[in-house]
Amino acid sequence: MAITTCIFDAYGTLFDVAAAARQAAAEPEHSELRDKWPDLANHWRLKQLQYTWLRAITDAHTDFWKVTQDGLDWALEATGLDGKPALRKRLLDLYWELQAYPEVPDMLRALKAAGKRTAILSNGSPAMLDGAVQSAGIGDVLDDVLSVESVGVFKPDSRVYDLVPGRFGCAKDEVLFVSSNGWDAAGASGYGFVTAWVNRSGEPMDRLPWRPVHVLSDLTSIPELAGA
Ligand code: LAC
Repeated sequence: MAITTCIFDAYGTLFDVAAAARQAAAEPEHSELRDKWPDLANHWRLKQLQYTWLRAITDAHTDFWKVTQDGLDWALEATGLDGKPALRKRLLDLYWELQAYPEVPDMLRALKAAGKRTAILSNGSPAMLDGAVQSAGIGDVLDDVLSVESVGVFKPDSRVYDLVPGRFGCAKDEVLFVSSNGWDAAGASGYGFVTAWVNRSGEPMDRLPWRPVHVLSDLTSIPELAGA
C-alpha cells in the first residue's frame, strides 16, 4: 500500500529534547550546569519516559507536563542541582520552546508539496505541543497535532496509535510512523504501521518483539521513503 499519511513523534524526533539543558548551560546565571548538563538531560529524559510507562501500566495517568516536572526533579537531585528554583524554572520554561532539528521544516514542506498528510502523535499535552509547534514555526505544514490526552494513556498503548486511523480514516499500512524512540517505533510496528526509527546517536536496537521497518540517522530521507 502506498504511504498517504506521515505521523511524527514529537519529543526527540521533531524537537531536540536536550536543547533545554544545553541552552540553560550556556547562560551565565546557570554556570553550575556547564559540565553537568549532558547528565542532567539524560536523567531527565529517561525518568520522564519511565514515569509514562509506569503510569500507563498502573492505570495512574497524569499529563505529560506533570511527568516532565517529576522527571526533572529526580534528575536535578541525582546531579546535585536540586534546591535551585531559578534553574528549575528556566529549564521548564525552555521545554515549551524546544528547537526543531534543522531539517524538519523542509522535510515537512516536501511531504505537503507531494500531497501527503502530516501530523504529530505525541505523549505531550495539547498546550505543550502547541508551544513547541509554534516556536518551531511548523504549524502550517502539519494537518493535525494529536495528543494522548484524548485517550488518557501514554504510548505504546494501542489506543494511542488508534488515534491515527480514527482521525484520518486510513489503513494502518498507509501510515509511515516516524520516531526517534526505539520503543515507540517498535510499538508502532507491532500495531501495524510502516515505521522509521530515527537513530541519531547510533544506539543499539531495542530487544523487543517488533522491529522498525526503516532505520535512519536523521529525517532528511523521509519524503523519499514516503514516495514524495
Ligand atoms: C512523544 C515522546 C515519546 O513525543 O517523545 O510522544
